[in-house]
Amino acid sequence: MLPYFRFHHIGVAVFDIDTTAKFYIDSGYSKTETIYDPHQNVYICFLTKEGMPMIELLAPKDETSPVTKTLDKSGVTPYHFCYEVDDIDGAIADLRKLKFVPLIKPVEACAIDNKKICFLFNKNVGLIELVEAKK
Ligand code: NI
Repeated sequence: MLPYFRFHHIGVAVFDIDTTAKFYIDSGYSKTETIYDPHQNVYICFLTKEGMPMIELLAPKDETSPVTKTLDKSGVTPYHFCYEVDDIDGAIADLRKLKFVPLIKPVEACAIDNKKICFLFNKNVGLIELVEAKK
């Protein structure tokens, strides 16, 4: 966690995008199209509603998807917070000093306008995602 982080979204692991999205749509959220992200091997959509935090739903494509273990262990559950930063490489360097471990090299996220993202883990904070603001 760093002072310059801007909250972006909560990532929720789900078994099926449409089944879970229905609950949000019925309470006034708008849903983006569901897309397949080959970098993460998951199906993704975003749910937005004025004045509410953005929600990302991630569903596995198969048992190798990164959300599969989370679903096996906990069922449908929030599993990451995402923060926007201006410089993802600088933020990763700052987080390393705080003992966050990057789980992947920064990749382009198909579901977020091909912006660069990275996942990092710290045992006292949990899993966070960074997304780089487009310059
Ligand atoms: Ni996310």
